[in-house]
Amino acid sequence: MSDDKRVAKLEIAGKTYELPMYSPTAGPDVIDIRKLYADAGVFTYDPGYTSTASCDSTITFIDGDKGELLHRGYPIDQLAEKSHYLEVCYLLLYGELPSPAQLEDFESRVTNHTMIHEQMHFLFRGFRRDAHPMAIMVGVVGALSAFYHDSTDITDPWQREVASIRLIAKMPTIAAMAYKYTIGQPFEYPRNDLDYASNFLRMCFAVPAENFVVNPILSRAMDRIFTLHADHEQNASTSTVRLASSSGANPFACVAAGIACLWGPAHGGANQACLEMLQEIGTPDRIPEFIARAKDKDDPFRLMGFGHRVYKNFDPRAKVMKQSADEVLELLGVENNPTLQVAKELEKQALADPYFADKKLFPNVDFYSGIILEAMGFPTSMFTPIFAVSRTIGWISQWKEMIADPQLKIGRPRQLYKGATLRDYVDIEKR
Ligand code: SDX
Repeated sequence: MSDDKRVAKLEIAGKTYELPMYSPTAGPDVIDIRKLYADAGVFTYDPGYTSTASCDSTITFIDGDKGELLHRGYPIDQLAEKSHYLEVCYLLLYGELPSPAQLEDFESRVTNHTMIHEQMHFLFRGFRRDAHPMAIMVGVVGALSAFYHDSTDITDPWQREVASIRLIAKMPTIAAMAYKYTIGQPFEYPRNDLDYASNFLRMCFAVPAENFVVNPILSRAMDRIFTLHADHEQNASTSTVRLASSSGANPFACVAAGIACLWGPAHGGANQACLEMLQEIGTPDRIPEFIARAKDKDDPFRLMGFGHRVYKNFDPRAKVMKQSADEVLELLGVENNPTLQVAKELEKQALADPYFADKKLFPNVDFYSGIILEAMGFPTSMFTPIFAVSRTIGWISQWKEMIADPQLKIGRPRQLYKGATLRDYVDIEKR
């Protein structure tokens, strides 16, 4: 915490309270309200945490007005162009870009943890074949704590490190197995001679009946999608992982909680919902109908892939994703993909509409990602599992930062109570 001596003054019932203020290296100043209840007997009130900093962090910075996203200071567009996912994982986890030797060691450690305990294969058999892959991932990732007891003691830095590597390494394997299970195909084991993205594509699309060669265009696109979704400050699923971890729960169980939160259509589930919306729109001539619905206060419909709690400008990840969609679909010879044409026309019409301009609603990371994933051969049900694979490094990096913080306290928000005040029980004969 910075050693600012500035204070904010708050007057309540004629008494003035001085609250310390701190300045970040970037972003808004903060007011420390931790002693407010003890000193003034009042709570602050911020449903949805629109104005609340839950922690201090050095990992990711977002400037919503500028549409800027930095990972340890490096802008996302440079990382997407010049780096690759496992190098970004190293950067998020350890704070600096790795040397060649450090990168080689890190990639080797991840590669050698990609298999899961053979007994875990039986867990998949308990699900219906039509289970959503996210339902399977929540269950199987949580069950990792039943198999890897030697990396669940969060007080042991070495076990924290092993659990981190295991989660980064095993998430693609679990996601691919969830996919294979739902389509009735046999599981494919990871291969140590493939890079992270190629391994995942092979585990998803290879079958024992024939050799499978990963398309380098698709593995580069897959790696870029992983990079773009890696971390995003204190979003809902990351805050879920932090809150679950604050009780001392093991990292596997906490990441399972993060997966559950990410599944929601307002969060990571938006990529699936967005593509299904674009497919429902079908042709550009139906766009005005859907824009009208999105603007209608009486219609709960929202434009999926649009808007963001923090970005009040273009989501920088959406810009990279749009460029990647153009490149990948052209290289695959499907540049006239009707869904992509609808997405581009929808973006154009929405951004020209005062409703979206006034509310500063722009495409977010989920607007174009589904178009690429569909072109790669994934069903919409696999879009959010892929987001979960990528975001695991963000959850784990934020978890690691929090657990190592000497100020760590269990998260325990209060409330504005509006229920019944004290009253006596009424026997049923008298009701
Ligand atoms: C992700 O937080 C993160 O960082 C998340 C994420 C990450 O990397 O972790 O970036 C990933 O979750 C991206 C967001 C994916 N979700 C969607 O695309 C779903 C559609 N978007 C909305 O549901 C919404 O924009 C949210 C949930 C993303 C943000 O909601 P907020 O911040 O709570 O804003 P709000 O609901 O208060 O909306 C403000 C106004 C409202 O109108 P008024 O009540 O002021 O009149 O804008 C309207 C909303 O009705 N609005 C929309 C809209 N999004 C907001 N209207 C139509 N379509 C939309 N998409």
